[in-house]
Amino acid sequence: MCGIVGYIGKRKASEVLLNGLNRMEYRGYDSAGISVIEDSKLITMKKKGKVSLLESIVDHKSLTSTIGIAHTRWATHGYPNDVNAHPHSDNSGNISIIHNGIIENYYALKIKLTEEGYTFKSETDTEVLAVFIGALYEQVNDLERAVRMALSEVSGTFGIVVLSSHEPDKLIAARRGSPLVVGIGKSEYIAASDATAIVQYTNSVVYLSDNEMAIITRDGFTTKTISNRKTIKAIQEIKFSIDQIEKSGFEHFMLKEIYEQPHTIRDSFRGRLLSEKGNVKLGGLSSVKDKLRSAGRIIITACGTSWHAALVGEYLIEQIAQVPVEVEYASEFRYRNPILNPDDVVFVISQSGETADTLAAVQEAKRKGATVLGIVNVVGSSIARETDAGIYIHAGPEIGVASTKAFTAQISVLMLIALYLGRMKNLSLADGRKIAAELNELPAKVESVLQNAEGIKSIAKEYSTAKNFLYLGRGNNFPVALEGALKLKEISYIHAEGYPAAEMKHGPIALIDENMPVVFIATKDDIYDKVISNIEEVKARKGKIIAIATEGDSRIGRIADHVIYIPDSISFLTPILASIPLQLLAYYMALELECNVDQPRNLAKSVTVE
Ligand code: F6R
Repeated sequence: MCGIVGYIGKRKASEVLLNGLNRMEYRGYDSAGISVIEDSKLITMKKKGKVSLLESIVDHKSLTSTIGIAHTRWATHGYPNDVNAHPHSDNSGNISIIHNGIIENYYALKIKLTEEGYTFKSETDTEVLAVFIGALYEQVNDLERAVRMALSEVSGTFGIVVLSSHEPDKLIAARRGSPLVVGIGKSEYIAASDATAIVQYTNSVVYLSDNEMAIITRDGFTTKTISNRKTIKAIQEIKFSIDQIEKSGFEHFMLKEIYEQPHTIRDSFRGRLLSEKGNVKLGGLSSVKDKLRSAGRIIITACGTSWHAALVGEYLIEQIAQVPVEVEYASEFRYRNPILNPDDVVFVISQSGETADTLAAVQEAKRKGATVLGIVNVVGSSIARETDAGIYIHAGPEIGVASTKAFTAQISVLMLIALYLGRMKNLSLADGRKIAAELNELPAKVESVLQNAEGIKSIAKEYSTAKNFLYLGRGNNFPVALEGALKLKEISYIHAEGYPAAEMKHGPIALIDENMPVVFIATKDDIYDKVISNIEEVKARKGKIIAIATEGDSRIGRIADHVIYIPDSISFLTPILASIPLQLLAYYMALELECNVDQPRNLAKSVTVE
């Protein structure tokens, strides 16, 4: 949600910055802009729309600057247009800033500054911060001090980088609540919202903490708190490579990430599954093993797709480990004064590790004294650092805005946690071994599901004119129905609802007629017969049925209009196998409708505002 990047070094800044914006465009694509210093003057270029439009007005040949900042925007305050695009400057035109986050007290500051005679061109909160820094600079003649003074008066969240022609060999980066990473190269530094903008130039990074700033010059950088206390940072290594953030021959990142799932699931198990012992080794949780053993209740909190994974986790942990689980939207959890008992353990799930609502839920749970554990993809992210302990899902960078491989890797890790807890409790060695054996076979089964892509493509062709879809499933396939519907909505803009199949007769059945496609997840499990009855109810009302069913099930072929088969497996694993055809269905529907699969409208990958 907004990507920011600042560069200082020996390369042509405009090239490094535009490259960084292209890498981070999944964070927002409403507008883009760049500021550099040429002949001691700040030059800013900005444009509504995608980074490619900005690229069309930036003439790299005429630019020589080796310092600059750039931004790709997901609009919060003010329409996406050229004026509201970042960077924003102060009234003197000598200070330029890029910002990710929201300055919550911007309105009061704007009134105060207006009364003092300062003017504003845009509707953004960011311009207020730029003008404020400029006003303070007039008083103190010191950029770092002016930034520090401004930041100690603003409330809300920010990741910012400040550039000024007053001090043309310096970048000031700071954060509170929004991510910021500083890449350390050979006589060059890149400050960015995430490591994807950095990895091409260096693998060495430091992650800034909340209320911390970095003062970066050509000779090095120092870090301190906004209240001016020096801090010491450990240099860390980016763990992914450049080819992991490229399309590698696939038409879209989403398709690449769907096809990566056999590997990402295997990676999430690697070194963790102890097949012979029917158990799991989770190094990240060893420090809280006793706490987990005695947990009276587990709360899982997350947003969006990660929340759907949490719902699957609820089934897995309750069924395998017999520990009560509650699942909460992170955005609700923090505001409803949740009751937390001393023996509760809170898990938070987040692909990005930066979702503002989820991060706030971590802070709320910690404030109440709970043990808070992360299930996170992005290494070094805020949630990974703020939780007491946790497990990385190891899905690798997920660039497509609609989450796919992170979802299945999250469920895989939840499965490991369920087995880990189960074996600490009453799950027998034999049952543990049986589950471990199934987990070992899972990547190959996922591979075989992917081979159904052509059939799914032809279903998408047939239904791409439908205006609504219903997705129905029961038990641990209910969250799969929710996730299937979300994927379709997000990337094809077709309205879709996910429901527990049996709930259909309590309302949604009124929607069913010959124009309503209904996707059933109807795998062979304990409630298969009940789901078949629900399918018959839809059929009796002429609804069109697309069923996800277990290989070898001949009965369903006689009722459904289309069947997509997935391999037989223990029911715990059907959410993973069944969600893959639904990802492909959403993908091919979006292609049919010529939608922008990787950058759907209004969305951004990492939701760093509340
Ligand atoms: C949907 C999607 C979102 C995210 C949600 C949480 O495809 O990607 O619903 O799942 O914004 O994001 P993370 O997992 O990064 O906390």
